[in-house]
Amino acid sequence: MNFQLTEEQILIQKTARAFADNELAPGVVERDDKKIWPREGVKQMGELGFMGMMVDPKWDGGGMDSISYTIAMEEISRVEASSGVVMSVNNSLVCYLLEKFGSDFLKEKYLKPLASGKKLGAFSLSEPQSGSDASNMRTIAKKEGDHYIISGTKNWVTNGINSNYVILFAVTEKGIGYKGVSCFIVEKGWDGLETGKPENKLGIRASDTCELYFDNVKVPVENLIGKEGEGFTIALVILDAGRIGIASQAIGIAQASLNASVSYSRERIQFGKPIAKNQAIQFKIADMAMEIEAARLLIRQAAWKKDQKQNYGHIASMAKVYASEVAMRASTQCVQIHGGFGYMRESGIERLMRDAKITQIYEGTSEIQRIVIARELLKK
Ligand code: CAA
Repeated sequence: MNFQLTEEQILIQKTARAFADNELAPGVVERDDKKIWPREGVKQMGELGFMGMMVDPKWDGGGMDSISYTIAMEEISRVEASSGVVMSVNNSLVCYLLEKFGSDFLKEKYLKPLASGKKLGAFSLSEPQSGSDASNMRTIAKKEGDHYIISGTKNWVTNGINSNYVILFAVTEKGIGYKGVSCFIVEKGWDGLETGKPENKLGIRASDTCELYFDNVKVPVENLIGKEGEGFTIALVILDAGRIGIASQAIGIAQASLNASVSYSRERIQFGKPIAKNQAIQFKIADMAMEIEAARLLIRQAAWKKDQKQNYGHIASMAKVYASEVAMRASTQCVQIHGGFGYMRESGIERLMRDAKITQIYEGTSEIQRIVIARELLKK
């Protein structure tokens, strides 16, 4: 067993770290406060090759391994978790899906611009009545000649506003449960597709989230991904991979919490000495560091297993539950260490706590992850 990063992985880490510190850090508090989408940062992530990191260079991707992806995701999210989720959705939920299940026609037309960062993708699975119970969707796709006519409402769509293309799940055959769900790729400008208003969120406020309304949208049959009825399985396979990205986002937030806690506790003088001299502070810092190391190893194991084509879904779920809980604990302790200052918006500290919360919810709640883990352990 070798815990050493490769030269390429170290280079990616350095590049992502420098980019995040130099380009994303300026204005991060204001973007969060005013819900300003990180347009310039997303464009630069595309130029750096971070928007389709694992895609084969044949489809204009970076051809990198999944561990490199977790490293870059962590570094970006350490500075701006909102940029992290834009990157994660495009890489894991959109590019990976198209590369794994799309036809060469779809790869040429959509994957190339998405993987090179020229276009942005969104993934729309959830609906008002179907979040965790994802297959219970109502959006309907009726085949008419060489098109599907799609109608319905999707919600909580990350990148819903700023994306160009949307991965869409809809029912092609009613009454047979998940076996009637199919997967499509839809272009934002198509008639009948309307974008809702930006949601006002607790955290990751610089990323956009909205509803999408489909009113008899005409989608060519070539834009069906996989076969009719394969959509739900495609979603679950892809979410296994997506959860590695969100776990990496979580650990980036946790690492930012640790870094801020270390530097502030060294500088903050109370009762005539830096608060870092107090064991009450030292123990919080030690716990954060210990948990971050453990979560990072779990994330890298899931990424490694994915690349080795081993069964990894339950490990990805473990990584997501654990990393998101670590992020929540570390960011809460970070606010505590910063006291009144950390509670103020302009400190940028309370943002970590608000950003951490979503990692326990999206791409499958912690409760759903525990179901996935338990099912794997209990299966015969
Ligand atoms: N890979 C491949 N196939 C899988 C699978 C996997 N990981 N998990 C299950 N399947 C198969 C099952 O074997 C089953 O097939 P068979 O009937 O042939 O055995 C089929 O898929 C259906 O599976 P289940 O019966 O287990 O389905 P379920 O309805 O009980 O749901 C679930 C399972 C795990 C709870 C699933 O619904 C789930 O993951 N829910 C959470 C949804 C989610 O993560 N939503 C996130 C939205 S996207 C988002 O957040 C993106 C964003 O914007 C950031």
